[in-house]
Amino acid sequence: MSNHIETLAIHAGQEPEPITGSVNVPIFQTSTYVQDGVGGMRNGHDYSRTINPTRTALQQCLAALEGGRHGVAFSSGMAAISGLMGAFGPMTRVLAMNDVYGGTYRLFSKVLEPQGHAFEYADLTDLEAVEQAITRRPAIVWVETPTNPLLKVVDIAAVVERAHAVGAKVVVDSTFASPYLQSPLALGADVVVHSTTKYIGGHSDVVGGIAVTSDDALAERLVFLQNAIGSVPAPFDCFLTLRGAKTLAIRMREHCANAARIVEHLVASPVVSHVLYPGLESDPGHAVAARQMRGFGGMISFRVHGGRAAADRALLDTGVWSLGESLGGVESLVEHPGAMTHASLDGSGFEVPDDLIRLSAGIEHVDDLLEGVERMLAGAARAS
Ligand SMILES: Cc1ncc(COP(=O)(O)O)c(C=O)c1O
Repeated sequence: MSNHIETLAIHAGQEPEPITGSVNVPIFQTSTYVQDGVGGMRNGHDYSRTINPTRTALQQCLAALEGGRHGVAFSSGMAAISGLMGAFGPMTRVLAMNDVYGGTYRLFSKVLEPQGHAFEYADLTDLEAVEQAITRRPAIVWVETPTNPLLKVVDIAAVVERAHAVGAKVVVDSTFASPYLQSPLALGADVVVHSTTKYIGGHSDVVGGIAVTSDDALAERLVFLQNAIGSVPAPFDCFLTLRGAKTLAIRMREHCANAARIVEHLVASPVVSHVLYPGLESDPGHAVAARQMRGFGGMISFRVHGGRAAADRALLDTGVWSLGESLGGVESLVEHPGAMTHASLDGSGFEVPDDLIRLSAGIEHVDDLLEGVERMLAGAARAS
């Protein structure tokens, strides 16, 4: 099979169905399978929590997109993250990026820490901080890059080198980049996770998650937990995610191009105090992003003069942009991370600024997106 992501997305794991030749993987909407005598399973199919052909196709496709041997799909990105943490075993010591998705922080601090895991947070973009923290010998280094919502860029290869030197495994949450823009396994990471709800699914119509690894033992444990815990995606959800993934490459190109135009506009606005986007040459993450990513992505964060009041005012009139949580879909979304996606960081000591607005640039016509941004900025200007 070709190594081109455009081709893999459409063909990997998706041989025509053998009975009819259906070019699309059917939705195997079944809970169980007939057996030819006790133990006589057909190609290992016994029960749909354990194995389902639509899920198998999705797992193989997404593993191929990440260049990994095994893909294990879950019912949400959070289920993938918690399955993965389970696979690493109890009482694990974790060094985590200090800007992670609020739900990841909530899982770590409110669920896993009380169960005995120990978390230390550091700015993993600072390699001296990594070197210091690594001396405390974590079992896992948890990277998110680009980060949600501050769009910091972690040098994956540099963190991997330092983590592997002390025997730690490296996980990369690559949701913001998608497999189109970044390949963490090729940079030495042990596992890559995605909320497939975002760019991979791409149409805001399905929630899901995936973990991809080439570590056979870890994959075996993950598959065991996928079945034992049962947080599996439904066949229809697997179908939707697989269907979305087929157009990942062309969507990502549009997301990146639209974001670049919007960033130009934001940078020129007197209402905007900071633009956080790794594509900007002045961005602290630019050099690393230019090296490890194949584009700068569709996510932009910016801060407005006038504080929370200006941010709230900006979000009252957003034109074609929908005010809502989530990201990575074909439609443009805007949100206030401090009050919405990252509200669960409250009290963590690393709250996001309250004048921060996060944009997920969709693939509508860029003129309409710019018009919406103008409306937001005009609103912010009225409050500041
Ligand atoms: C970076 C990142 N990781 C994980 C998740 C969790 O994914 P899900 O919402 O599919 O559970 C999100 C959700 O926004 C996210 O942005």
